[in-house]
Amino acid sequence: TRVAVVFGGQSTEHAVSCVSAASVLAHLDPERYEAVPVGITPAGRWVLGPSDPEVLRISGRTLPSVPPGTALTLPAAGRGLIALEPGREGEVLSSVDVVFPVLHGAFGEDGTVQGLLEMVGLPYVGPGVLASAAAMDKGFTKKVLAAESLPIGRYVDLPRGRADLTDAERGHLGLPVFVKPSRAGSSSGITKVTDWADVPAAIAHARTVDPKVLIEAAVAGREIECGVLEFPDGRVEASQPGEITLADDVDWYDFEAKYLNPGDLDIPAKLDDAVADSLRATAVAAFHALDCQGLARVDFFVGEDGELTINEVNTMPGFTPSSAFPKMWEVTGVDYRSLVTTLIETALA
Ligand code: DAL
Ligand code: MG
Repeated sequence: TRVAVVFGGQSTEHAVSCVSAASVLAHLDPERYEAVPVGITPAGRWVLGPSDPEVLRISGRTLPSVPPGTALTLPAAGRGLIALEPGREGEVLSSVDVVFPVLHGAFGEDGTVQGLLEMVGLPYVGPGVLASAAAMDKGFTKKVLAAESLPIGRYVDLPRGRADLTDAERGHLGLPVFVKPSRAGSSSGITKVTDWADVPAAIAHARTVDPKVLIEAAVAGREIECGVLEFPDGRVEASQPGEITLADDVDWYDFEAKYLNPGDLDIPAKLDDAVADSLRATAVAAFHALDCQGLARVDFFVGEDGELTINEVNTMPGFTPSSAFPKMWEVTGVDYRSLVTTLIETALA
């Protein structure tokens, strides 16, 4: 089975996707699968390679990016990767049976690549077009979850073009707030704001990533994540929850804390059994509410009394060495290689 592992891409999470892909490629079962690595450059060019995925790792504080390679395209219908390179134009570089889009953020996790793959008739890992698009948009995610009576925090979906909050909205939220691009990941474009005077600048900063902006009330509580996985027979299960702990010099779970200066992950998170059971059931309910397939990581805040708040749902969670999804499954009894195999076989089922 030939698996195109697609990574990089045009979003602010280009580098994170490269790091995720390096781990996925390293855990692909060589007896079952042939890996076909496909990078997408920040400019949107699709290229073959690299043959050594280790170049996709973080080195010190230097973030990786897609290296140059033979330019390629997907055919309008069919299963090959077609060369675009002058002199090799139209040459079939490799056939592909299934695609693992290890892409985070815009043009990858948001239904766009999923739509392209639907059009060329290739099966792929992860949710389809609507679920990907809805989960990518933090405002739509909340609307869908609220419609299913799932717990969400206080927020304001800022209309496009509005540059500040009204007094009523400030009263509704309370300080501090997090100002976020609606459709982004890995904390890009997010500012924690502790003074209302700083909100307009934070909104402008978020708009450098996405014209849609969301403002959330800070939720007091521990930050706990839960993996959801669909098996080839259709079973959907939740992993053991994992707690994010921050390094001492870190204020909140930003890009630095996620990838450059990560704290520890505590898996399974120390929770009362009843709270852990409820969190896992809520994660699966969120997966179904958004009509997800394949996988998702549902991120929660858990209050002192065990009260749950869903922060967001990620349909292509990080697979980096500091990411929770593969580690939570490892502790739950699905080792990394079996996890990758399960994702691919579910896509093919
Ligand atoms: N958006 C990053 C990759 C995550 O959710 O893990
Ligand atoms: Mg995220």
